[in-house]
Amino acid sequence: MSSSHPYLQGVWGGGGLYKKKDLLTLQDYSADEIWEILKITREIRDKPEDFREVLSGKSVLLLFQKPSTRTKISFEVAISQLGGFPIPLGWNESQLGRGETIPDTARVFSRYVECVVARVYSHRDLEEMARHADIPIVNALSNLYHPCQIIADLFTIWEHFSCLENLKLAYVGDGNNVCNSLLIGCSKMGIDMSVACPDKFRPVEHVVELALKNAGESGSKIEILDDPYEAVEGADIIYTDVFVSMGYEEERKERLKVFLPKYRVTMNLLERASENVVFMHCLPAHRGEEVTDEVIDSEKSIVWVQAENRLHTSKAILTYILR
Ligand code: CP
Ligand code: NVA
Repeated sequence: MSSSHPYLQGVWGGGGLYKKKDLLTLQDYSADEIWEILKITREIRDKPEDFREVLSGKSVLLLFQKPSTRTKISFEVAISQLGGFPIPLGWNESQLGRGETIPDTARVFSRYVECVVARVYSHRDLEEMARHADIPIVNALSNLYHPCQIIADLFTIWEHFSCLENLKLAYVGDGNNVCNSLLIGCSKMGIDMSVACPDKFRPVEHVVELALKNAGESGSKIEILDDPYEAVEGADIIYTDVFVSMGYEEERKERLKVFLPKYRVTMNLLERASENVVFMHCLPAHRGEEVTDEVIDSEKSIVWVQAENRLHTSKAILTYILR
């Protein structure tokens, strides 16, 4: 891609035009900004050859404190296909694992690479990293949010329904990081969202407040319910995620007792939604727990396209942020 491309104007060599843009939560992005990333995604997916030099001469650190398949691979491939150099590094492979502080580490990596994509246990660690880094930090999942996943989800929904208006997404299960980011993303983009979860595993109250405020501005409707059947009524999308997220393994027994069988997505539940309902899951799925094989392998399931879109959106996020 030549530097005359509109996405790159004023990026490099522009003399002081560069401004650090983190992606810790979609709450920091306007609906227009999210739309722009979605449009870049479509362009990159359809004409990847036009974007081969976006990261030419640039290095991006992939710093992971937890396991990952989709996020790590998609970003690594994305960086390579954009002409950049990915540096995958496990948290404990670095001196962070031996106690070097996050601020000191951030001061150092800011002098080597152009961007850091980081997956962490604590969202506060990510905020601290972003405060002390001179380069953009991208949240590759924290205990609180998973914004990169939700950008891919919004793109998948847009592609499938050809719009983001007049849609209802029902999220059934744990009010976790993915649910929190869906609440922020849907409320910003005008998608109605009903969450069905046990009282003990509701999404974070502060996030619900933010979503309600966003919904007031976008005109969407947000509700937190207990009953999955009530939540999926009229839903165009049914979304679920694991009942035991990374870092919560010790609660597994207690959680399964609360979630099962009520919050498992079954064909019976799908039949109560809109006729054209689709099933989404960020993956990895724990088949037989939050979703049956029958649902995830059905024609209603769009999880594989959703997973593919992680690659296109990873490219778009970096293109957008590194301008
Ligand atoms: N959906 C997602 O983020 O998957 P990974 O944990 O495999 O990256
Ligand atoms: N909620 C899950 C998402 C995995 C992509 C977790 O945090 O483990």
